[in-house]
Amino acid sequence: MEVLGIDIGGSGIKGAPVDTDTGNLLDNRYRLATPSPAKPQAVAETVSDIADHFRWKGRLGVGFPGVVRKGVTLTAANIHKDWIGLDAAKFIKTVTGHKTCMINDADAAGLAEMAFGAGKNRQGVVLMVTIGTGLGTALFTNGQLLPNCEFGHLEMKGADAEWYASDAARKREKLSWKKWGQRIDQYLHTMEKLFWPDLIILGGGISKKHERFFPYLTVQAEVVPALMLNEAGIIGAAVGACKYGK
Ligand code: BGC
Repeated sequence: MEVLGIDIGGSGIKGAPVDTDTGNLLDNRYRLATPSPAKPQAVAETVSDIADHFRWKGRLGVGFPGVVRKGVTLTAANIHKDWIGLDAAKFIKTVTGHKTCMINDADAAGLAEMAFGAGKNRQGVVLMVTIGTGLGTALFTNGQLLPNCEFGHLEMKGADAEWYASDAARKREKLSWKKWGQRIDQYLHTMEKLFWPDLIILGGGISKKHERFFPYLTVQAEVVPALMLNEAGIIGAAVGACKYGK
């Protein structure tokens, strides 16, 4: 099936048509800046512009940076609070005219990595962490997703872990790769104490620079960079939204 995968992020909204059987992009991805403030109407109009760019006729699979249950967005840590409680899938369908399914963005990225990337054919417990403005997490056991795990909001040093260890924290505090690498290591140790994953996949834009901080990781689990980099969110949204979302 062909689905237009859309990844709603804090700074950009990206999309591309995806062949959901192979995970291949069928065209170059297209990115527009996330409107500010990122209220539902403005974001949905940007999604519509992306669909128009591809002259899209089919359905949309959308990854959203918050909890999504049955198409309803329930949290909004790094996006406008007007999303909380909205039937977002229905709203985007009304604005864009396209049938829309939605899931959490980290779940989307994790599903893509499990199907086509660093987690392919991996059994046991796999934890995906997407590192960006926030810390997104997706947990799998024998390939099955436990949706909407929000482990970026575990408390560390008296605040949300993502405030302490995300890429935004690295930039905000101008941390060296060593200092920040040690923070993400501390975070992964916390996760390891709680879930004992066999494999940890680190994704998000920063996974391109994994050589800079992987030397500071000391957890027992095998840790690998995501293979699909910027495309995981789009591919996973296309592949997963209509399977796991509404
Ligand atoms: C949100 C998650 C999201 C992550 C990455 C967190 O702040 O709570 O739902 O997956 O950021 O965007």
